[in-house]
Amino acid sequence: MEQQNLLSDFATDTLHGLSAIPKFLSSKYFYDDIGSAIFQDIMQMPEYYLTDCEVEIFEKYKQEMVSVIGKSKSKLELIELGAGDGLKTKVLLSQLLEQNIDFKYIPIDISANAVENLHQDLKRNLPELKVEGRIGDYFKLIAELNGSARKVILFLGSNIGNFNPSQSRQFLKQLYNVLNHGDQLLIGFDLKKDSEKILKAYNDPHGHTASFNLNLLNRINNELDADFQLDNFFHTEVYDHETGVAKSYLISKKAQNVHIRKLNKSFLLAPNEKIFMEMSQKYDQQMINSLAVNAGFEVVQNYYDHKSWFVNSLWNVKDS
Ligand code: AVI
Repeated sequence: MEQQNLLSDFATDTLHGLSAIPKFLSSKYFYDDIGSAIFQDIMQMPEYYLTDCEVEIFEKYKQEMVSVIGKSKSKLELIELGAGDGLKTKVLLSQLLEQNIDFKYIPIDISANAVENLHQDLKRNLPELKVEGRIGDYFKLIAELNGSARKVILFLGSNIGNFNPSQSRQFLKQLYNVLNHGDQLLIGFDLKKDSEKILKAYNDPHGHTASFNLNLLNRINNELDADFQLDNFFHTEVYDHETGVAKSYLISKKAQNVHIRKLNKSFLLAPNEKIFMEMSQKYDQQMINSLAVNAGFEVVQNYYDHKSWFVNSLWNVKDS
């Protein structure tokens, strides 16, 4: 029989992260309803250049992209992982429709809300589009899809950058394992650039990124019955150009004790003690090529914005 006190993944990961030295929390838990709304605010601020760059790329290369991904006569399934609001994808979807490509759009997200909102939005704005949203584990869902259709996977927004290097290698390998020869991946990477630009994107004057991070403490308060005082923390960002790693931290302003009732545990924080919250990897072309090749893909085409701050890289699944 199932144990009554079985902890959720969120509780277990929180326990693990706050017990570690140095402390950390996982950014994959940023995206509850409030966190997702804050992320929309982040994407709209001028300092967060990633979204503008990617929209520019889609606008500029939509015809070319469609001629490559829609070239084969077989049925096409366009599968987006972590679709969010689908802002950039809509550019591509409209173009595919305009060029009369026979395809189905399958957004996959762990959040039922995100998939439902996107579905409603697409029904209103692109009524002729065939959409089949799915909620749950990316790889399981892809493996369950129709084997005969050709698949093009979208993994945009530099979402890959929130994984550490070994997680991203593993993620791409797992993706490769559920794809077939002829399938493709269009993946977004934020590129290494002037440190100041990166730090401004992740330490913005509007305070959205700080709220985004602090919201995870709020979530722990609400879901795990904790007593984090949000005012007792501030957010900071560091960037190392050599490795391309940007890191977000919450810093304890003073000595404090936080109790989490659902874990039945208290955690002591020293003045200036950091909680590592998120990494956002920035890439160069060599790093991108080696990620592709190591996972079994080959790079077909790279699409850059005019400042070369961001790239959408189109990969083919190579025969094993
Ligand atoms: C979702 N992900 C790619 C964002 C990023 O740029 O790392 C999350 C984010 N964190 C702070 N601002 C945006």
